[in-house]
Amino acid sequence: MLEGKRILLIVTGSIAAYKSLELVRQFIKANASVEGILTQGGSQFVTPLALETLTGKRVHTQMWDEHSFEMNHIEASRRADLIVVAPATAGFIAKMANGIGDDLASSIILAGNKPVIIAPSMNVEMWDNPAFRRNLEQVQKDGAILIEPQNDVLACGEIGMGKMAEPETIFREVSKYLSQKKSLSGLKAIVTTGGTIERIDSVRYLSNFSSGKQGNQIALALATLGCQVSLVSGNTQDSAPLHSNISIIPVESADQMMAAAHKNLPADLFVGCAAVCDFKVSNKSNKKTKKQEGLELEFEENPDILQSMGTLKASLRPKLVIGFAAETNDVTDYAKQKLEKKGCDLVIANDVSSGAVFGKDDTQVHFVSREAINSLEPMKKSEVADILASWIAEHL
Ligand code: CTP
Repeated sequence: MLEGKRILLIVTGSIAAYKSLELVRQFIKANASVEGILTQGGSQFVTPLALETLTGKRVHTQMWDEHSFEMNHIEASRRADLIVVAPATAGFIAKMANGIGDDLASSIILAGNKPVIIAPSMNVEMWDNPAFRRNLEQVQKDGAILIEPQNDVLACGEIGMGKMAEPETIFREVSKYLSQKKSLSGLKAIVTTGGTIERIDSVRYLSNFSSGKQGNQIALALATLGCQVSLVSGNTQDSAPLHSNISIIPVESADQMMAAAHKNLPADLFVGCAAVCDFKVSNKSNKKTKKQEGLELEFEENPDILQSMGTLKASLRPKLVIGFAAETNDVTDYAKQKLEKKGCDLVIANDVSSGAVFGKDDTQVHFVSREAINSLEPMKKSEVADILASWIAEHL
């Protein structure tokens, strides 16, 4: 999978640096080529010679090369397909977040024109530090892909988040990233996520238990492949996905979600992942209803956003319209009916017979299209999102 790929590996100053040597070995074994960059801190833990021996290439530590005219900080990323920072210290992430280029490695990031994957390594208090959280959020917003550290006993003896992901995990994530088809750049997606809120009066509402996790993961997977995503977000329990290709449009009701989705047309694809309330209150009050007044609600049906997209005339309709269905029985039959009724190209059917999937990280789905039914194993919602992004890349 990594055959012929060129990885620029930046090793910064953390004890986890010794694991980068194992990571290099795995990359080389997979026939990738690796060029190593050591920060001053990094070279306290591994030597240039060790990295050079494993990569078979000269390791740079200095901004200017006394033996050539090459500008290391510019040339290095031009030669690579991907920059991996492993381990990435809190200090290095702070430099990335603030555009500081005061040594070779940080200047490479600043002058870089390739995607960056970071594998942080630090003490748990540093990981939780509010200044670090801001920096991490910023670098993700700027497009860096995070490989989360582990929650474990740390090298300092304290317990918590901060231990760098294992080399195998980093290897797997890098392989996954580099093997993805990056054919979604230049395309635009509208994704709905979360549950809608339907007001009863000024202080009460009806909604559902949707967490927004699946829709957020889909937005992230599409954005990672270069797609521009308008994420129309209802009520969610999940933190908003951070990516420079994602713009979030917060909405409350189904009517607002409908209007926001249509306002963002034209788009190449629409993914309706939101749990839209089927009904809204037609006799809602603008003031708080007192209990002495009693409460008698009248309902009217909400517009079906997915169906409205699927049945648009050809010149306006997104090329792919994808919906979701939660079913307890006859899962794929119902999904096929929804596919036809709502004019979709694909319905992802959630089997919710074993309990609710709301708020969970895992799910079990079937991809139902006119051509095929593909039943997937139980897996993480982020994995479903990756598979969907690949499906979209293949079908657009
Ligand atoms: N959906 C929508 N607008 C609505 C209702 C649903 O866009 N007003 C979308 C959801 O985002 C999801 C799919 O339609 O993609 C789910 O449909 P669902 O609510 O399961 O189906 P219904 O048509 O309501 O049928 P039923 O409740 O009978 O299963």
